[in-house]
Amino acid sequence: MTTEPLPVPVPDTAAAELESRTFLRLPLTPAQVELVHVTYAAWERTLTGPLRKTLPGNRHRPIGFLPLQPAFTAEMKDSYYYRRGVRLPQALCDQTDALIALLAPVARKIGEQIAARGGPRLLRRTDRGCLRVMRYPPFEGDIDSAMVRQRAQRGTPRSPAHKDLNALTILAPASLPGLQIEGPDGWAEVHDAGNELIVHTGQEMEDRSGRRWPATVHRVRNPEPGDPQLARMSCAYFVS
Ligand SMILES: [Fe+2]
Repeated sequence: MTTEPLPVPVPDTAAAELESRTFLRLPLTPAQVELVHVTYAAWERTLTGPLRKTLPGNRHRPIGFLPLQPAFTAEMKDSYYYRRGVRLPQALCDQTDALIALLAPVARKIGEQIAARGGPRLLRRTDRGCLRVMRYPPFEGDIDSAMVRQRAQRGTPRSPAHKDLNALTILAPASLPGLQIEGPDGWAEVHDAGNELIVHTGQEMEDRSGRRWPATVHRVRNPEPGDPQLARMSCAYFVS
């Protein structure tokens, strides 16, 4: 059981709330939000610059660079799966590790609460998560803009409705709105001011708990008129 102060406070009711709600919001301080955006800026420079070609990639394991795929059924983003210990370009190391230091204790704490309520088998590796950094190209002004616009015209969203495969997901606030979560009343947009962590469950948790903690269904919509013509950066910390 962790006793040290958490960088992001987790209410004692978090696991119970996740049983009855599709997701939790955990507010961040302005300095923490700034860290998230500095990290996004570093990753966006890397994913759009010459360093992109140096990122190791492995489509078959959740480690490394996974580029945007041309198939119109795939998600419209570049992403990088990072685990501590993997060698990143120097420009990314410090911010990325600082971001994980923000997210990992939240996952560990909520994992402990869920284990206390539902049993230790529900979460197995909260000490070793994976960070996925994602960049959805803008619909104007990017090398991939024409492709993503064309796919959007066919009805493809930035990310189709899905459940994450892992047990628990901690989402840092994205740089732009677009995340939608399916609840009892249908789809709801969850960005608000963009200064909160979003915590939700995945398929492993649903299966191991016999749907006591059902997996959260979510998607990312395409930009709407009036939205900034910018890339959308987001990141998720997954634990199993
Ligand atoms: Fe997801």
